[in-house]
Amino acid sequence: MKLLALSDLHVGHPRNREVLGELTPRPDDWLILGGDLGETEEHLRWVLDTLGPRFQQLVWVPGNHELYVHPDDTASPRGEERYLRLVELCRGAGVITPEDPYVTWTGEGEPHLIAPLFLLYDYSFRPAHVAEQDAVAWAMESGLLCSDEMLLDPRPYPSRTAWCHARVDATAARLAAAPPLPKVLINHFPLREDLVRLRWIPRFSIWCGTRKTHDWHLRFGAGVVVTGHLHIPRTDWVDGVRFEEVSFGYPRQRPPTLRADDCLREILPGPPARRGA
Ligand SMILES: [Fe+2]
Ligand SMILES: [Fe+2]
Repeated sequence: MKLLALSDLHVGHPRNREVLGELTPRPDDWLILGGDLGETEEHLRWVLDTLGPRFQQLVWVPGNHELYVHPDDTASPRGEERYLRLVELCRGAGVITPEDPYVTWTGEGEPHLIAPLFLLYDYSFRPAHVAEQDAVAWAMESGLLCSDEMLLDPRPYPSRTAWCHARVDATAARLAAAPPLPKVLINHFPLREDLVRLRWIPRFSIWCGTRKTHDWHLRFGAGVVVTGHLHIPRTDWVDGVRFEEVSFGYPRQRPPTLRADDCLREILPGPPARRGA
């Protein structure tokens, strides 16, 4: 039994549904879904209905795209209410969410506590000379404006930053009280600014995480940190801890012949630990 991961499935793109539909069933393994599965409840249901039967267990965290509601849509719940609705949809399909108790991994590799998180961002991944209130204008100077600014409503919180900080505080308390096992920390957004390497759109960093989680891999004893959002799949080692960016991404970001099976990342048992890297 292996623990695998994939994020940013973006199944609003028909080509992504086509490629993901060919994923080989692995009924003994667990699959982490790292957020940005799509923009609608129908997209989320498609992923759960398509991939759920192919794995023993799914684990889900939301991305920013799941939380999008079009300004003209006056019927759909927004903000935290929308998030909790998606949590219920996942739970109804037997999927583990950030609102559920952390479970202990007893498959291949060392026992780990699997901790799905929802932490959002607070615009703190910016240079020191840019004030928080100027962060979006600073990004816009380079032609960047994340759709979140129009589509990700933080209500009942006054801002996405306030929502992020509430989530960070509550999650830190939960992790501090968790059993002393190595953790698999799963969050859509990167936990460290130094792992946000956006060569072509560097100022997009403000929508990518919070400095409050910079030391969480050490503070909460992570064995592995799993994230997405960047659409730049890679493996990094920081302080001997493995950081896995597991994005599937948009069709144009992958070689056309790449199979979904090739994009699955093994989280546990994973490669041998690399100490001091
Ligand atoms: Fe994404
Ligand atoms: Fe994202």
